[in-house]
Amino acid sequence: MSKKILITPGDGIGKEVTSSAKEVLDFLISEYQLNFDVTQMDVGGTSYNKNGSPLTDDVLNIAKESDAILFGAVGGPEWDDLDWDSRPEQALLILRKELGLFANLRPAFLFNELASASPIKNEIIKDLDILIVRELTGGIYFGEPRAIVSDETPPYAFNTMIYNEDEIKRIAKVAFESAKKRGGKLCSVEKANVLEVSKFWRSVVSDMAKDYPEVELSHQLADNTAMQLVLNPNQFDVIVSSNLFGDILSDIAATLSGSIGMLPSASLNSSSQGMYEPCHGSAPDIAGQDIANPIAMIASLAMALRHSLDQQDLADKIDNAIKSFIQQGHRTKDISTTADYIKTSEVASIIIGIIKNG
Ligand code: IPM
Ligand code: MG
Repeated sequence: MSKKILITPGDGIGKEVTSSAKEVLDFLISEYQLNFDVTQMDVGGTSYNKNGSPLTDDVLNIAKESDAILFGAVGGPEWDDLDWDSRPEQALLILRKELGLFANLRPAFLFNELASASPIKNEIIKDLDILIVRELTGGIYFGEPRAIVSDETPPYAFNTMIYNEDEIKRIAKVAFESAKKRGGKLCSVEKANVLEVSKFWRSVVSDMAKDYPEVELSHQLADNTAMQLVLNPNQFDVIVSSNLFGDILSDIAATLSGSIGMLPSASLNSSSQGMYEPCHGSAPDIAGQDIANPIAMIASLAMALRHSLDQQDLADKIDNAIKSFIQQGHRTKDISTTADYIKTSEVASIIIGIIKNG
């Protein structure tokens, strides 16, 4: 049976990095005769300009039928003043919600060769390898009620941070299972000293620990975790957190690794359908200059092959090729420590060459 892949380049460098990932994907399809059916469509500001909406029904319907979505990035100053519903970010939020992509896996790892590109001291980040498991379809991002009330004095606004037991259990399960396969440690992060929703989160996660005797569970307060990630990141193996705290912590973790241009992510639902995106955004300041780092997007393709497309071997081939790429000294601008660097459009053919040579 054929697998369906939807590519949504989006805005800014999203277009450049998805084009590199597509080059790698096209190579794999022809080299290994994969039965993949690939479609490409607009989202975000680019879609708004053409269709008046950041996510058309057409794209949403095709996304729902796809096994994997390779999502570039959305947003840019051009669209900053649009109404809420027209903003490019809505494409992401609607896809997450409509496809039920509750489990967001955000690895943060360091290639030791790139340690000098990180703002943190080498000895602190050496061998960094963390997985952040972020809840992605609940919490304060989607909680009701929510509103800006401007016709009262003084005007006010509010959101609702809410989690039910099932939502906490299903994301914690993903995190416990991941910890079992990795270093056996799970740290659950919230603000149980202040928020009822966090106190509840902590008790639900604690109760689950008995089903995972091989996993060492700890709890941390989110502000402390932000600090610990910078002071001593190697204490962490897997971190599980809510939508909002996971958003913040994953940006900190990404920075440790030298360049956010290296890190992929996966957002999965319970039937292994997934959306795969680089951790970086659309970077309008460098868009169109052929200097973006497409590795995060290519590594996201590897995650798609692993989690949604049933091609673990090919996922390993890409991951190994990325490792060799770095070891051989290839550097895009963001990770280069000299004036020399290779262009975005040169990366895919180097990765393909490495895969071909085994
Ligand atoms: C992310 C981003 C998004 C989020 C924005 C663009 C809506 O920051 O994926 O981390 O907050 O989830
Ligand atoms: Mg974010």
